[in-house]
Amino acid sequence: MDYDIADPGLADDGARRVAWAGRRMPVLATIRERFRRERPLEGRRVGACLHVTAETANLMLALRDGGADVALCASNPLSTQDDVAAALVAEGIPVFAVRGEDADRYYRHIHAVLDVKPDITMDDGADLVTVLHTERTELAPIGSTEETTTGVIRLRAMAEDGTLRLPVVAVNDSATKHLFDNRYGTGQSALDGILRASNILLAGSHVVVVGYGDCGRGVADRADGMGAKVIVVEVDPIRALAAAMDGYEVMTARDAAPIGDVFITVTGNKHVLRMEHFERMKDGAILANAGHFDIELDLDALGKAAVARRPIRANLDEYELADGRRLLVAAEGRLVNLGAAEGHPADVMDMSFSNQALAAEWLVGRAGSLEPKIYTLPAELDEEVARIKLESMGAGLEQLTEEQERYLSGWQEGT
Ligand code: NAI
Repeated sequence: MDYDIADPGLADDGARRVAWAGRRMPVLATIRERFRRERPLEGRRVGACLHVTAETANLMLALRDGGADVALCASNPLSTQDDVAAALVAEGIPVFAVRGEDADRYYRHIHAVLDVKPDITMDDGADLVTVLHTERTELAPIGSTEETTTGVIRLRAMAEDGTLRLPVVAVNDSATKHLFDNRYGTGQSALDGILRASNILLAGSHVVVVGYGDCGRGVADRADGMGAKVIVVEVDPIRALAAAMDGYEVMTARDAAPIGDVFITVTGNKHVLRMEHFERMKDGAILANAGHFDIELDLDALGKAAVARRPIRANLDEYELADGRRLLVAAEGRLVNLGAAEGHPADVMDMSFSNQALAAEWLVGRAGSLEPKIYTLPAELDEEVARIKLESMGAGLEQLTEEQERYLSGWQEGT
């Protein structure tokens, strides 16, 4: 079996971590059990480009139990858990991912996954599908799935200009994905990454959250819960208003720059914090990004302006400016929750990856009958995921009475 990982000797450590994550993923376990019986992916090849974490490993095992031949590469050069990669290889699943790999190796690994000629591709950020549309046009998978907001935005742009040539399920758009993974997962794990990298006290500090979408809202809520004074920077007036009514200060990035102790970008956009902001920041301010790509902080400009750059702690680099101020950058401006912590907790990836597994099954069931456009999984599947999750949490779900159902579906009854 062909693979490229850091160290196969880490497999036992990885296997323990994968098993622990699996214990916290009851919805995926239910789907895996059904997949084992029904084998809906029998004989299909799945090529996945996802963060190589313990949660992803559980998804890979579920797909394999559903009958698929699976190959996996990383969706970010800094997010791979090398022990997990080794554990998957020990399970017979080819993995091409090494934490800290350079751009050449990262893309070589994407090609290695495409070399298996996948029937289904799984993406997190649309890097794999982009290569499918540029360098590997000889391949024609049945369809693909996309995990994150940034990937869905890229794919919609491809669909709009007519270049998309395969159907894609926007897993991110399932309610049981973005309302929970983006919000509670990113909210908790982005702060976890910043704290592991810096060990600062959040209570009483000014935390500036740039972008108040699903992720930003989660980060702001969690920072608030830890006693930080939260400032939100937004370009969308509705979301800015929501942040204001949620009780946060809302201001421009320029005004927030001299106040913030910690800045967290979660916009999916480019250079949202740049030199004009860095110039106004306090000595010791910490910069972190939880958006998909490492483009939200203009670190090229910061690097050029700096007179010195030095590592201070694991995943924390200090940039010293000519006037003596020092700005600290966590996880090289890459996804801080994956670069400096372990990514989202398994409890929330349970739902995201259940949607991924169901999306693969949905695509295989409709092979050949779908158009090259973006699809969202049907609401029944979303509700099914939510129901199993609620059950596993011991929560009770109220049922509508017949009278209430009639009332809600009729129009005759008024006052
Ligand atoms: P979203 O689209 O719901 O929110 C993004 C927000 O940023 C929008 O409200 C938008 O108006 C705002 N924005 C855009 N440009 C801005 C600017 N220059 N200044 C201030 N605000 C600006 O997206 P979502 O779901 O919150 O995702 C955000 C990013 O995080 C994406 O790149 C997504 O792929 C990524 N993501 C990261 C995860 C992680 O594990 N760290 C998990 C899920 C998503």
